[in-house]
Amino acid sequence: MSSSKVDIFAEHIYRHSTYVEKINLSFCQFFLRSPSGTLCIETGARADFSLMSATLRETGIDVASVSSVIVPHFEDDEMGALPEFVALNKGVVAYAHPICSHALSDIFPVKVKPLKDEAPTRINDEVIVPIFVKHVHQWDALVIYVPRLKALFSSDIFMRFGPVDGESKDPVAGMIASIEQSEYLPSIEYFHRALNKIKKYDIESIFPMHGPAIHGDAAAVVDGLIDYCVRKLGKEAVLG
Ligand SMILES: [Fe+2]
Ligand SMILES: [Fe+2]
Repeated sequence: MSSSKVDIFAEHIYRHSTYVEKINLSFCQFFLRSPSGTLCIETGARADFSLMSATLRETGIDVASVSSVIVPHFEDDEMGALPEFVALNKGVVAYAHPICSHALSDIFPVKVKPLKDEAPTRINDEVIVPIFVKHVHQWDALVIYVPRLKALFSSDIFMRFGPVDGESKDPVAGMIASIEQSEYLPSIEYFHRALNKIKKYDIESIFPMHGPAIHGDAAAVVDGLIDYCVRKLGKEAVLG
């Protein structure tokens, strides 16, 4: 069974989430509203689009108002519903890592703009900073930092199994358990590099695509995962 809902953070961030009980995993899409249009981060899978748009409509978001979509990497839950967005608004622009943007423009009738690593970029009225996190899950992976909100939209990084409301006293332990259970990370070394890149940003909130958001202790969470990587890399070095 799946359940779908919208949560609003800091008056500007709309998070649509679907929890799929069978796999104990939630899938989130984020919408930032501005006078010049709505920015979407993560499209969700194609099959989930009609439920997502109906649930968003109840909270005042018309998916047809989405003029820009950021695709964090080329995977169904991150970009699958892109054609549905384009069907509602022919002017939609998709932003992504160069590898991903070329693939998107090859298969979908959509205007694309490749992002540059750590180069602040204005989309609608919002300045965003794309941070490339190479080989964390995929080669074309990126996360999005929004300086105005001190928020990181972290896609598959900082993921946790369970519903988005799952409270936990120790989010790092939950993330490590989820990493080890899912085995979705191809390389701890690249994950470590990505975390060190993310660490230098002033982050107050983290919004993962899977699992609960993190507020207040974001820096401690980044440090906790860096420690985990250091321990794992040390063990790997000893074992040769
Ligand atoms: Fe993914
Ligand atoms: Fe994902």
